[in-house]
Amino acid sequence: MSSPLALPILDADLEARLLARMVDVEDAMLDHVESEAPFVTKAARHLMEAGGKRFRPLLCFLAAEAGPVGGDQVLTAACVVELTHLASLYHDDVMDEAALRRGAESANARWDNHVAILTGDFLFAKSSELTADLGPDAVRIQAQTFSRLVEGQILETLGPGPEDDALDHYLRVISGKTGSLIATSARYGAMFGGAPDEVVAAMTEYGEKVGVAFQLSDDILDIASDTEESGKTPGTDLREGVPTLPTLIALRSTDPADARLRQLLSAPLIDDDLHAEALALLRVHPAMTAARDYVSAEATQAKALLEVLPVGPVRTALEAFADLVADRSA
Ligand code: FPP
Ligand code: MG
Repeated sequence: MSSPLALPILDADLEARLLARMVDVEDAMLDHVESEAPFVTKAARHLMEAGGKRFRPLLCFLAAEAGPVGGDQVLTAACVVELTHLASLYHDDVMDEAALRRGAESANARWDNHVAILTGDFLFAKSSELTADLGPDAVRIQAQTFSRLVEGQILETLGPGPEDDALDHYLRVISGKTGSLIATSARYGAMFGGAPDEVVAAMTEYGEKVGVAFQLSDDILDIASDTEESGKTPGTDLREGVPTLPTLIALRSTDPADARLRQLLSAPLIDDDLHAEALALLRVHPAMTAARDYVSAEATQAKALLEVLPVGPVRTALEAFADLVADRSA
């Protein structure tokens, strides 16, 4: 069945409920970022209106289906996670000097770095204001999630130290910058849906694993896809010399045939011709398959955590969600 949701859902009632909630979250976010200053509203809505998959709110609503209630608090939580995510993208595009996001101009390209940074701050402030409505536990979780996002981003910027294994470092970066907020999306959903503690714990762990798989897929797509598919400029990580799963696997190769690729990957690829050469070599390298296999294994572990839920449409949809994330880059 094809669905306007990013997810194939086999149960018509569940699908209708989720669709209605996704419309609600869109309206609530647009409303909530309205400022007295029209320019601030415009800048804050810029990336929201450019689209996006809304994976975090969708996961929050789905996780809430594991409990008996699905009221206003779940909607507020879904807004919180998406607004936090959007805030981080404004900042991330400044750090990456990215020109494109979701097929639209990034805020830094459309205006400048100052506007992009301050709009990210504004969105995070708005997200925090909403979190206060969810009570002190939610505020603490939001603050911890924010720390982990920032720590992940800082670790990525620093790169591995001399004693660190490059792949371990990379996985720590990913769980901080992406796993944390996706884990919180599932956790908030289960919490405010009224699920029992063991389900909240399982959903949190599931979200973390799905989040890691999501970022790994994103990194694979950065190499594998073209702009039309991803809405971003391909090879951004390569250009900046940011290591990702495929490049780290390729760098471990001792095959003499890979000498040229290893040489190209040893530094940021600013030069257009060298960048294109590395991208072409990587796209056909077995490291891409190995990276995709790693993502599938992560999704399989995530699905195993769902055993805490009864068999039924919600569990099936959460399994499909994990598969979808892994299959993005397949
Ligand atoms: C995208 O990564 C970036 C993130 C997932 C997190 C960025 C976090 C911060 C900038 C910390 C500040 C956070 C807030 C809430 C203000 P990517 O560059 O690998 O992905 P991309 O290809 O989508 O750009
Ligand atoms: Mg980026």
